[in-house]
This record gives sequence, C-alpha cells and structure tokens, in this order.
Amino acid sequence: MIDDELDMEVRLKKIAPSILSADFSRLDKEVRAVERAGADLIHVDVMDGHFVPNITIGPLVVMGLRKLTSLPLDVHLMIEEPQRYIEAFAQAGASWITIHVEVCRALSQMVKKIRMLRVRPGVVLNPATPLKKLYSILDEIDLVLLMSVNPGFGGQAFIPEVLKKVEQLRKTIDQNGYEVEIEVDGGIKLENIGEVSKAGGDIFVLGTGIFKTPNYKETIRKLRKEIL
Ligand code: DX5
Ligand code: ZN
Repeated sequence: MIDDELDMEVRLKKIAPSILSADFSRLDKEVRAVERAGADLIHVDVMDGHFVPNITIGPLVVMGLRKLTSLPLDVHLMIEEPQRYIEAFAQAGASWITIHVEVCRALSQMVKKIRMLRVRPGVVLNPATPLKKLYSILDEIDLVLLMSVNPGFGGQAFIPEVLKKVEQLRKTIDQNGYEVEIEVDGGIKLENIGEVSKAGGDIFVLGTGIFKTPNYKETIRKLRKEIL
C-alpha cells in the first residue's frame, strides 16, 4: 500500500485528545500542540457537579477553544439537563454534541434539535447502560459514545467488559447499514487502543494517554500504528 493510501485508511479512525487532562494554565498551547501532533478532534468534557461529581467546562471555554483551533470540537455533555444548554454549546462552536441516554427522556427530540443547530448529534452510554437503550435512535444519530470508565474523572482504568459492547454495537451497525461512528472514551492508552480498534471502535478519546506523555506527536504517531 502506498503511503497516501495508508494515510487515508488510518484517517478513517480518529484520535480525540480530551483536554480534561491538559494543563489549563496554558490551554492555548496545549490545544495547538495536539493539533500539530496530528489529532483529529478536540474532545471537550463538560461536567456539572450533578450528573457527575466533578465540575469542568462551560460554553465560554468552548467559545475560546473555537478560536484556537480549526479541528472539530467534540463536546461530551455530562450534565443533568442537556436540553437547557444545547443551544449555548452550539452557538459557542461545538461541532459534535453528545448527550447521555441516562439523563435524557426525549432523546429523539433532542437529537433533532442538535441537528437543527447544524451540529452532529451523538448519544453516550455509561459502562453499565445496555445497548438496547439506543436501538430506537440509531438511524437518527451520527455517533455513539461508549464510556469505558464511569464518567467524572480522567485517569481511570479501562473497564474491559466494554470491549464486548463495542463488538456488539459494531455488528448491529454493520448489519443494518447505519451510518454511525463508534467512539470510545476512558482509560484508553497505547497498550489497549489496538484492542478497542479491533473490537470496532472508530474514534478514540484519550486524556491522560496523550496529555500525560512527554511528546504528543510521538504518542499520536504510535497510537495510529496500533489502529491500522
Ligand atoms: C471521563 C471523560 C473522559 C476522560 C478521559 O468522564 O469523559 O473523556 O477525560 O480521560 P482518560 O483518557 O485519562 O481516561
Ligand atoms: Zn469524555
């Protein structure tokens, strides 16, 4: 395979650094550094202190990020009432918005609203939430985010049982011809990204697995080799 083809193949799988583990005193440099290092997306973890115990980022920071990078902003809403904030995050410059099924009753309505705001909609499942919760919505969304840790904090260990879930979802998507990407988030590192990819993941979120390594470019280069 020639290099260009190889590059295109590899690019179908995406690496999404989670800025939760970046140094916030120099967030601009951190974001630019992962962009230069070859990241495909910037993953933004929004936490409200209710749905998860931690508090992180709001629309103001997303607005700042939008000015720093041309990469798509993948906004992961770990908040209790996402319907109240979708518009603000869309206006701030989110490219993708993912919402947790655990907090969302009118899922289809929310997904439509996100799309109307010209943002790509996705749905997130906690490790213990069964896949059947999203079967009715699979033909309406662009991506499913499967959590491989319990949401709330960076730096937790990958829950290996989630690999089966990734495999099962891959099968369902392929058998039905849905155009949905599978994103996996939590505890992904150079040591296990290959397995997650083989199970059927398309997009890999890494916080500590990138930002706590000394050379982002080198790390992303090695990660890409694992997901060929
Ligand atoms: C967890 C967040 C993750 C987290 C990943 O609630 O959704 O995106 O930042 O961090 P690592 O890769 O360190 O597990
Ligand atoms: Zn996340």
